[in-house]
Amino acid sequence: MNKYMSIAALIFLLAASPVRGAEVPLYKDAAAAPAARAADLLGRMTVEEKFGQLQQLDGLWEGNYREEHLKLAREGKLGSTLNVRTAPFANTLQKEAVENSRLGIPVLFAFDVIHGYRTIFPVPLGESAQWDPLLAEAAASAAAEEAYSVGLKWTFAPMVDIARDPRWGRIVEGSGEDAYLGSRLAAARVRGFQGSDYGAPGKVMACAKHWVGYGAAEAGRDYNSTDISESALRNIYFPPFKAAVEAGVPTFMTAFNDLNGVPSTANKRNIAGVLRSEWGFKGFVVSDYTSVKELILHGLAADGEDAAVKALSAGVDMEMVSTLYRETGPAALAAGKISQADLDASVLRVLELKFRAGIFENPYIDPALEAKTLKTPEKLALALNAALKSMVLLKNEGALLPLDPKLKKVAVIGALADSRADMLGSWSADGKPADAVTLLEGIKEAVSPVTWVSYSSGAFAGATDKDLDKAVAAAAAADVIIAAVGETFDLSGEAASRVSLALPGRQLELLERLKKTGRPVVAVVFNGRPLELGWLNDNIPAILEAWQPGTQAGSAVAQTLFGKSNPGGKLPVTFPRSVGQVPIYYGHRNTGRPPDAKEKYTSKYIDSSFEPLYPFGYGLSYSSFAFSGLAVSPASIKPDGKVQVSFEVKNISRRSGDEVAQVYIKDEAGSETRPVRELKGFQRVTLAPGEARVLTFELGPAELGWHYAGGFAVEPGRFKIYAGSSSVGGLEASFEVKP
Ligand code: NOJ
Repeated sequence: MNKYMSIAALIFLLAASPVRGAEVPLYKDAAAAPAARAADLLGRMTVEEKFGQLQQLDGLWEGNYREEHLKLAREGKLGSTLNVRTAPFANTLQKEAVENSRLGIPVLFAFDVIHGYRTIFPVPLGESAQWDPLLAEAAASAAAEEAYSVGLKWTFAPMVDIARDPRWGRIVEGSGEDAYLGSRLAAARVRGFQGSDYGAPGKVMACAKHWVGYGAAEAGRDYNSTDISESALRNIYFPPFKAAVEAGVPTFMTAFNDLNGVPSTANKRNIAGVLRSEWGFKGFVVSDYTSVKELILHGLAADGEDAAVKALSAGVDMEMVSTLYRETGPAALAAGKISQADLDASVLRVLELKFRAGIFENPYIDPALEAKTLKTPEKLALALNAALKSMVLLKNEGALLPLDPKLKKVAVIGALADSRADMLGSWSADGKPADAVTLLEGIKEAVSPVTWVSYSSGAFAGATDKDLDKAVAAAAAADVIIAAVGETFDLSGEAASRVSLALPGRQLELLERLKKTGRPVVAVVFNGRPLELGWLNDNIPAILEAWQPGTQAGSAVAQTLFGKSNPGGKLPVTFPRSVGQVPIYYGHRNTGRPPDAKEKYTSKYIDSSFEPLYPFGYGLSYSSFAFSGLAVSPASIKPDGKVQVSFEVKNISRRSGDEVAQVYIKDEAGSETRPVRELKGFQRVTLAPGEARVLTFELGPAELGWHYAGGFAVEPGRFKIYAGSSSVGGLEASFEVKP
């Protein structure tokens, strides 16, 4: 209001307004700016309603709301739910909020749509093995369409935690060990979920999680504390989050971990500081599941009120599942422990996003949309392509693969070959095991009509000698044995950390016996984490890393084994020889005594090789490729300059196939030491037999700079460039950065 306007003039104006009673408040005006609408609405809210908007509660697993949600929604005290979904449930609850509450603020429906909603794509770690951000974007877009069709407007994805410890079960949910690959995929997934406007139909808001450092859980034990240096935070753990912000992610979720003594859910330095002040993030931050309340067990908060005060004051806007904001907030506000400014800022952020998400205008979902949207032929085709592209060929001695579809007898061994649920992976939302194609089905589809396919389940935990005997008998006299080994879906994911990376149960024993039959064995590995595959590498001629490929799993694996498709994925994470090498990752710093097998006093083991079994970026193909002609120009640049890196990749085989060309740098000397290699560019290309392509990459300050104690800079000195098919070897060149 104009400060010179008198009260009398104001009363006159209001009285003179023609349809006083029917006047539409600004916040209900769809044409007004979201920020203005949020401010108008905030001005009309009670303290209880404000805290209510910051409350997110959990529905029931099958999609229903809980009885108490109806009352809370009517009272305007339910900002959001997770797990409430599908038209009958979502619309009924929404009606209470929109039509029967004082201000009619809609509920924001969230769900974990991690690698598909109903059509399930490869687990994120497998998707990362595609090295194909556009494909990841397409998968996220399809997942968003499906999620939207059941009333959802917010997904708790992408999970962008860098993870370098395969004991940690949640390594399956992320992009692996590398900040650059992780950043590219984080941005792609955000774009996929949201499109150019997450308020549009068929799009959902993304959420970058878990902020931050959660993947560095000590000893790989889930939820465990983390101690991470500033350099590691800035250069390794932050970048994918920053990439998500730059791609327009509107929400963040805080992590469960204690980070350097301050739990992430009360970490003001990172939330209010780095995220909001440094990066200019304008969206809202939600806690993880009860992580506000958990501040008490962490030993940061003395009681519930203290937990609410610390989380809210740190910048956590919405509380997931625990109810401390709602219950203790009003009194804490009255006592001055929570500031009015902090409360209002949080409420404004939540309201503004609700306006932007379009749910004030479109609060309900059309019940007929779901049937038209889920599992369409296009989405199934995309899921097949995604699964095919995620396959990583780890070994192929004597070109055993691809197999001839006309073989007479194929023995398929291993319970995973006939398991639907295990194909979907650890976070399959509303994916139905019944939709998944098993490996056995895929193989039967892929072979000729005269091929005889036998099957025996083999060797998980609880397998008896008899089970093993049966499997070996079924394999005898086969032209080829296809052994499906690895992990069931529940052996990775949240709260599924392992101290062993060995094949569970008696699977190794089974493989040993299968090998003794003298028949050629192909191992297909289904898993959500790097496993110890050393024995397999030494004894089994062909190994295909299949991850958990989703709805189209069996078709994708079988098409790869029988040559209809040529594998071209690359590992997004290092595979150790043994758990004792963990953490092991390609981008480590050097020591003053780099490993040297001939020198005792160097950094290595006396009982194992120091090298990984399979390095980051590694993966074979049925084709062969040659790299040549690496050129870097100019030979020297200023710190703000750019170099062009180019080289040729040629398919030197007689089969069309994919190669992922990778570009790494090494900043040779600096004010702090830098990793021995850092990925700074990649491109997956499909090349026909004999085809060659020159690829060009531009590296500038964003790629060459790094965060050191004094800030972010490209430091003068020599940089090495490596170009090749993995993080090991490749072509080498160098250039200089001059002051
Ligand atoms: C806990 C998990 O850590 C998080 O990733 C997930 O989004 C929430 N639960 C909600 O399901």
